[in-house]
Amino acid sequence: MHIPQRTHYAGSLRAEHIGQKVIINGWIDSNRDLGGLLFLDVRDREGVAQCVVEPSEATMYLYEEGKRLRSEFVVSIEGLVRKRSNPNSKMPTGQVEILISSIQVLNESEVPPFVIEEEVKAGEELRLKYRYLDLRRPSLLQNLMRRHKITQSIRNYFDAKGFVEVETPMLMKATPEGARDFLVPSRLHHGEFYALPQSPQIYKQILMVAGLDKYFQITKCFRDEDLRADRQPEFTQLDVEISFPDEEIVYEAMEGCLRKVWEDVGFVLPKFPRYSYKEVMERFGSDKPDLRFELEIRTLTDLLRGKTEFKVFNEALETKQGVIACIVAPGCAAWSRKQLDELTEHAKLFGAGGLVWLKVTDAGIDSSAKKFLSAELMQEIANASKASVGDLILIAVHQKWSRAYTIMGALRSEIAKRLKLTEGKAFEFAPLWVLNFPMFELDEATGIYNSMHHPFTSPVVEDWENKTDDLAAIRARAYDIVVNGYELGSGSIRIHDRKLQSEIFDMLGLSKEEQQKKFGFMLDAFRYGAPPHGGMALGIDRIAMLCCGTDNIKDVVAFPKTTSMQGLMENCPSPVDPRQLREVGIKLGQ
Ligand code: AMO
Repeated sequence: MHIPQRTHYAGSLRAEHIGQKVIINGWIDSNRDLGGLLFLDVRDREGVAQCVVEPSEATMYLYEEGKRLRSEFVVSIEGLVRKRSNPNSKMPTGQVEILISSIQVLNESEVPPFVIEEEVKAGEELRLKYRYLDLRRPSLLQNLMRRHKITQSIRNYFDAKGFVEVETPMLMKATPEGARDFLVPSRLHHGEFYALPQSPQIYKQILMVAGLDKYFQITKCFRDEDLRADRQPEFTQLDVEISFPDEEIVYEAMEGCLRKVWEDVGFVLPKFPRYSYKEVMERFGSDKPDLRFELEIRTLTDLLRGKTEFKVFNEALETKQGVIACIVAPGCAAWSRKQLDELTEHAKLFGAGGLVWLKVTDAGIDSSAKKFLSAELMQEIANASKASVGDLILIAVHQKWSRAYTIMGALRSEIAKRLKLTEGKAFEFAPLWVLNFPMFELDEATGIYNSMHHPFTSPVVEDWENKTDDLAAIRARAYDIVVNGYELGSGSIRIHDRKLQSEIFDMLGLSKEEQQKKFGFMLDAFRYGAPPHGGMALGIDRIAMLCCGTDNIKDVVAFPKTTSMQGLMENCPSPVDPRQLREVGIKLGQ
């Protein structure tokens, strides 16, 4: 069969093509027969174009051929581009149509299990099972193309700066980094396993020991953890490492990269303000705040200490870490009892015992705790929180600093959601750096300290030199990039000193034996002149989500897994042949 070669993509036709003879190859999107006048919409990766057969004796055969074409038939159409008599401003190709002079059917299609249209009505499961049909929606294909542009842009950027892309192993030693590993059994060494990398962290550090100096890689990472709208079990990182850096050098490289990516896909990324971890927590209640809206948290601890008999406030301040904080919901003084109850329930999910509200109205200030708060004190709270008439103030307390601000952060997001503060702002971007995370965090359930970033992160020198038993007070030379409430990336200046690395492992409760078993090869590498080094990794899927204006990671991954980690199209995971199991020395339990 001769396959006519396209002259244009259907979705790329515009007024400037009027008068040209064109060939398009694509899929029938819809077929409307208006009694002799036949409209065929043809779709390809760039969009949809209207094609038409006008009734006349000479075109009768085209009409007969066109009439039998059903949705998803593969066709090649030749014709003349002309101005549409009834332009459709909603379609990018809506000014023009193709007057068909020839139709060739290249393949037929069965009736698809759902109609392929942008406002797709089919459920997600069905669409994932027939992913290749869902991907035919130009918006999804456009996302994949934009993702391609993003990775091209990244490669150009780092290449121009003298970074070298190096591939690191996919089969590695199991050294869990926080999440669970995906394990791969060995055929030649029964009872032994490789792990798929959670990140190339250790390899990239060893590349610095090797002298590569500047490394980057766009690579798959695998983590067996609970999935969310911005997480997949396999995802792609832009991984970067630099020798002899300080923080500014890493900031400059990474911020510059993102700014270039945004520019290459047609957006502008403003300069990144910098906040310490403590500051973002106290002002926005999150280490990944969405700064497209303000809604700042105010701390009332000092204002209210010893000022009232209110037990809820006083009990919270019995500990050194106790916090009273508030947030203003602008213009929400009229929120109903039901709305306030819902907000209270929401805050409880994050550990609040309840919420105190104040409503600032023309008639004065009302409060759920007015029995305990004098009129002057309520006015002081309103002043401190910068509330105006018509505003609602919500106060929460907790004996733990991090819990108190996490509750406030949850309220901040909930208020923003209810006030629709980010609606229509998918392509407005508010990036920031979060710096100096704590080095360790206490796992309340086990009483054990874990690394907040990972165990290869350097402590801030002065904190390390003046450390006490309170390990949570030691800050790390770690930094995150956050955009619109998403953690886009994390990094740190690393430990390059063998003794310090071993000391940190000790503090994390790893015996010398375990250290040797898990990380001996890395500690050994540090014996032979490891240069100071540092770096970062960015989540490419999340970058693509932001640049495609979606909040669902599946929209930017060609073949994503469901939240229960299944591939519905190919049906995996799936049982394997018993012979395959025998070969790798695995016997399944009952
Ligand atoms: P971290 O674990 O913070 O750091 O990962 C870096 C970035 O990768 C993205 N990411 C994910 N994206 C989608 N699905 C997931 N399950 C997922 N997990 C992480 C996020 C995240 O910010 N080795 C360190 C980096 C370093 O220190 O250089 C690391 O992996 O955008």
